[in-house]
Amino acid sequence: MNNVKVGIIGAGFMGAAHLENLRRIPGVEITAIADINMSAAQKLAEKFSIAHVYETWQELIADPEIHSVHNCTPNTLHYEINKAAILAGKAILSEKPLTNTAAQSEELVRLAEEKNVLNAVNFSYRNYPLPRYARQLVSNGNLGKIFLVHGHYLQDWLIYPEDYNWRVDVKHGGASRAVADIGSHWCDLVQFITGQKITAVFADLETVHKTRFKPDAEVETFKGKEQSQLKGLREVPVETEDVGMVLFRLESGAKGVFTVSQVSAGHKNCFKIEIDGSRMSLQWDQEEPNQLKMGFRNKANEILVKDSSLLEGESTDFIHYPGGHPEGYPDAFKNLFLNFYATLIKKIPVNFPTFTDGLLENRIVEAILKSSSQKIWVNVE
Ligand SMILES: NC(=O)c1ccc[n+]([C@@H]2O[C@H](COP(=O)([O-])OP(=O)(O)OC[C@H]3O[C@@H](n4cnc5c(N)ncnc54)[C@H](O)[C@@H]3O)[C@@H](O)[C@H]2O)c1
Repeated sequence: MNNVKVGIIGAGFMGAAHLENLRRIPGVEITAIADINMSAAQKLAEKFSIAHVYETWQELIADPEIHSVHNCTPNTLHYEINKAAILAGKAILSEKPLTNTAAQSEELVRLAEEKNVLNAVNFSYRNYPLPRYARQLVSNGNLGKIFLVHGHYLQDWLIYPEDYNWRVDVKHGGASRAVADIGSHWCDLVQFITGQKITAVFADLETVHKTRFKPDAEVETFKGKEQSQLKGLREVPVETEDVGMVLFRLESGAKGVFTVSQVSAGHKNCFKIEIDGSRMSLQWDQEEPNQLKMGFRNKANEILVKDSSLLEGESTDFIHYPGGHPEGYPDAFKNLFLNFYATLIKKIPVNFPTFTDGLLENRIVEAILKSSSQKIWVNVE
């Protein structure tokens, strides 16, 4: 088969990350980039010698050469673009959240099934080898009965009222910010490792900055720190949460709690998860992704360092370098893309997060929003 021709929509933080990692996938050729910011798309296209640059996503989807679309645009555009790709019969790999509402995601799941279109959502953290191994330990019974799951996902790039990004605005980011943006990754990983769904939530969300200062120009993700250099700041109201604390229950009745925040000084991308079972506990930290900490009551704790000769099962398929050679954030993207294109090209079974996982996340986020506003436990649909 000839190379699969891929188009990327959105040339920002994620567009560049997808592009770089797609370049590591056999059988894939990136032929086009689209962005309303033509100069951003052109810069990326020149850097990586991509043949076509489009100013609108509609032109890219209409390009008959393109078999597969990566949607790396702001959240509110996900529904429209993902739907158009499905209707055009193109494989679609969407950034998270899949859409901004469960109703929109339900429609996409149904349409993709009807049109038999391969689909994925970039819940990237489950594509690291050690969370994979953690899942194996849980499913093999090594942890015993799961008592408790806890952790957090903390960042500081929106700590000041002068920090601004499209995510802050409901119109572009959706009704939830910290929970949908980063909490969705945390919930996806918990469900993936434990093999259990989150069934109920009790949440307390807080918008620390009720107003923020919006600049004339668009601010790139994580560039809030350079905000002070921007001109034309305008004070605007903010409705989305900076912080969230969420109690939850899993299918087995095990309990959990997590905190999300985009205003916690010193925390850059601090994603930690701990699973406490009756025999042992597991801890994984995204900023030290090559270590899995294992806690014991009656013997010394252990730190397992990523090394395929020390792991077994499918987690070894997610390792590409020998022990002592760290792999991290970009490699998780590569792993997801490898599996996605292996399914598209060689028809191997799906082993990546799909639109159905995106829909599950929308339902959790909606339950969290309802719980926080009504101050009640809410079952996840
Ligand atoms: N999986 C992850 O780890 C991860 C990490 C960061 C962001 N994301 C997700 O990726 C998506 C993009 O986030 P980002 O941080 O790259 O944002 P960004 O602001 O850096 O980039 C978004 C790009 O989309 C472009 N764009 C806006 N409107 C457009 C339109 N109508 N047509 C074409 N292009 C348009 C913008 O000009 C910009 O270049 C978001 O949905 C976000 O949630 C996922």
